[in-house]
Amino acid sequence: MLSVQENLPVEFSEELLAKFAEVVSRYPAGRQKSALIPILHLVQAEYGWLSTDAMDKVAAYLQIRPIEVYEVATFYTMFFLKPQGRYVLEVCRTGPCCLVGAEKIMKHIEKRLGVKEGEVTEDGLFSWRGVECLAACGYGPVLQIGPEYTYYEKLTEESVDQLIETLRNKAKEA
Ligand code: FES
Repeated sequence: MLSVQENLPVEFSEELLAKFAEVVSRYPAGRQKSALIPILHLVQAEYGWLSTDAMDKVAAYLQIRPIEVYEVATFYTMFFLKPQGRYVLEVCRTGPCCLVGAEKIMKHIEKRLGVKEGEVTEDGLFSWRGVECLAACGYGPVLQIGPEYTYYEKLTEESVDQLIETLRNKAKEA
């Protein structure tokens, strides 16, 4: 049984379906399953996470079995299987970043946001987690924020505070 804490019924918009079709068109006829990962990214960018209903509808769209979608979604850590904050701060927790203060940065984020790793702030804006190497080892501590996967490097407690403030303001303007 797939471990999903909550479900969210979804109805893919015409716009999203058009994006799916464009992705599928990149592959030979009958090979639409190859579009699975990019389509899951599109769904996650739209809803913030992958609910069981969303994955089932992706399976129906690609004419594959739901288990084939679950297998991929549960294998790759970039896919979220439960609701997240609008902004997910993913902090590199691998050795080189830890040597330059990644753990201190994660503790600071936890204190600043008032939520533990994987939890969502009450206003729904933020969640955070530690992730493996982000391939920016010379610029640590580093974090990324999806869905564009923007990098923020050489983090300090002050720069993290500024980032959180900037994101809060951005959310107010949206
Ligand atoms: Fe942090 Fe590689 S160890 S980016």
